[in-house]
Amino acid sequence: MNTSKTKDKYQIAVVPGDGIGKEVMEATIFVLDSLDIDFDYVYAEAGDECLEKTGNALPGETLDIIRNADACLFGAAGETAADVIVKIRQEMKMFANLRPVKTYPNTDSLFENIDFMIVRENTEGMYIADEESYTDDGAVARRIITREAEERIIDYAFNYALENNKTKVTAVHKANVLKKTDGLFKEIFYDVAERYPDIATEDFYVDATAMYLITQPQSFEVIVTTNLFGDILSDEGAGLVGGLGLIPSANIGEDGALFEPVHGSAPDIAGQGKANPIAMMLSAIMMLRYIGENEAADRFDAAILKVLNDANILTADLGGNASTMEVAQAVKNNL
Ligand code: NAI
Ligand code: MG
Repeated sequence: MNTSKTKDKYQIAVVPGDGIGKEVMEATIFVLDSLDIDFDYVYAEAGDECLEKTGNALPGETLDIIRNADACLFGAAGETAADVIVKIRQEMKMFANLRPVKTYPNTDSLFENIDFMIVRENTEGMYIADEESYTDDGAVARRIITREAEERIIDYAFNYALENNKTKVTAVHKANVLKKTDGLFKEIFYDVAERYPDIATEDFYVDATAMYLITQPQSFEVIVTTNLFGDILSDEGAGLVGGLGLIPSANIGEDGALFEPVHGSAPDIAGQGKANPIAMMLSAIMMLRYIGENEAADRFDAAILKVLNDANILTADLGGNASTMEVAQAVKNNL
């Protein structure tokens, strides 16, 4: 990522949200605070509790705080998640959704040595959800693919590969059936690829990719794809490496960037100190790389890896009995 330069002080919008969002955020800030980076946290409200309190799940003030910050850390919202997170993505024009798929030790990963990034287009494709009316025969949805948005996401993927020492970008589409929309996507992919002569390219159909993710996941480095396919493949990726407690994500845009675990507010375990904070912490590490604090990101990552390797202090989802804050303390001790 490395899109901005390292500064002396960063303003970080912190939106803990609902349920375990608050718990994993507290644990993550606890570790961030010992990295010797000057963060100015601006807390903001959003989600179910905010709706109950203020009548609005996403107050304008929260949007302003996110807009004015260098980056945003988001915990999780509850039932209002769609209104909150989808609206933030739209308002901030967060065109890229990044979902790393990586194996960590002592987890339910189906394979070892998986490490790839899914770069999903976040603003158009099938998810414009343009299916307003029923027809006499049933219903129709429109799928929009624009040159501008697809070139932007594909260029982002190649640039990501370049900056993160990846050697190959894979385009995923269904151009044999969706000849115009995905035909265009594939054409743009190879046009953009010409600007990155050192990065290898390949393209697969989405159905074949769904299989390759199970049969040869180690062969992928960076996958770039349209909105719906990216949504599906990233959940398949989450299943590959086992467990929502470990899966971070980033939403990157022109007006801001937001980093959040993939999991929700987990009402079944909320308030019990049982939540695994690692997905939130890995999201914070993506934020550190985004703002250019790579050395701190590496240290934080290594500290988490050590906790997982030692396997003494793990939350219940990973087979342990440690609390959220005990894991945070263990990570901090390893820094
Ligand atoms: P969920 O991700 O909250 O929970 C699914 C299951 O995974 C639960 O059994 C939960 O205990 C477990 N789990 C999730 N994160 C965990 C962690 N860090 N450590 C240990 N266990 C963890 O998804 P669910 O149950 O479908 O939705 C609950 C609420 O969250 C709903 O209101 C939903 O709308 C919201 N949600 C919000 C999201 C967001 O804010 N981005 C994303 C997904 C759901
Ligand atoms: Mg999804």
